[in-house]
Amino acid sequence: ARPLGLSGLRRRFAKGQKLSMVTAYDFPSARFARSAGVELVLVGDSLGNCRLGLSDTVGVTMEDMLRATTAVRRGVDTAAGTSPKPLVIGDMPFGSYLTPEDALRNAAAFRVAGADIVKLEGGCHLAPLVKSLTNAGIGVMSHIGLEPQRALLQGGFRLQGTTATSAVEIVSAAKELVQAGAVVLVLEMVPEEVGLAVQSSLPETPVIGIGAGGRVAGQVLVCDDMLGVHGSPPSFAKMFADVGKVSEQAYATYVEEVRSGEFPGDKHSRRMTEVEREKLQG
Ligand code: KIV
Ligand code: NA
Repeated sequence: ARPLGLSGLRRRFAKGQKLSMVTAYDFPSARFARSAGVELVLVGDSLGNCRLGLSDTVGVTMEDMLRATTAVRRGVDTAAGTSPKPLVIGDMPFGSYLTPEDALRNAAAFRVAGADIVKLEGGCHLAPLVKSLTNAGIGVMSHIGLEPQRALLQGGFRLQGTTATSAVEIVSAAKELVQAGAVVLVLEMVPEEVGLAVQSSLPETPVIGIGAGGRVAGQVLVCDDMLGVHGSPPSFAKMFADVGKVSEQAYATYVEEVRSGEFPGDKHSRRMTEVEREKLQG
């Protein structure tokens, strides 16, 4: 199948089609996302909480992210699916864009690893950086509202833009980032009204919400939240299947069957030819 590309994404947005985005951290999760026909696959730094057991995303390294991105790229490229291939987004981890030089070098590394565009957390102060990446030919997704990498400074993992003043700030940051070149936005944890206000102020740029209500161009979920394999999912996440529970049952049954000798049994064992068996025993 052909890649969706940014032009395909914009075409769908212009037609009013809702866009789906989901995180992936490895080969199988990328394949599920691609086969389902999502438009955007995010190699999120939520990898740290979800798959590495970190308490937040601050400890995630470029090495972690690049390794995951190569696997996700392979998953997206090899999965079955008739819809256009989704865009793969590399999430720039904490500390990887402290200076413009770091940002350019690390964003380029994401491109080489297979990401189509990169995502950076930050409001209007990041506009110059978005511009320099865009000038270097690297597409940027800006992440505003709640920014988990600076949650401490934002008063914890809490709803942002709850006052009219702070909502206006979010809207103007969004406009400034798009002006600087951001091609798509993620808006996290804001009231539905703020989601609508941001999207309305950007007629040509899709806003992908997470905990931002339904009046934006699309939705993003952390795959582990969606599947019930995350220890403490946020309240805005919906579990679409309880894979955690199914997994626990499968592991318990496996241990039981090993102990009882039911597994491997005849079905999962191989046998020699009769001639060879007689020689061995003889
Ligand atoms: O890392 C991540 O999962 C994200 C999404 C929540 C947008 O940044
Ligand atoms: Na992230």
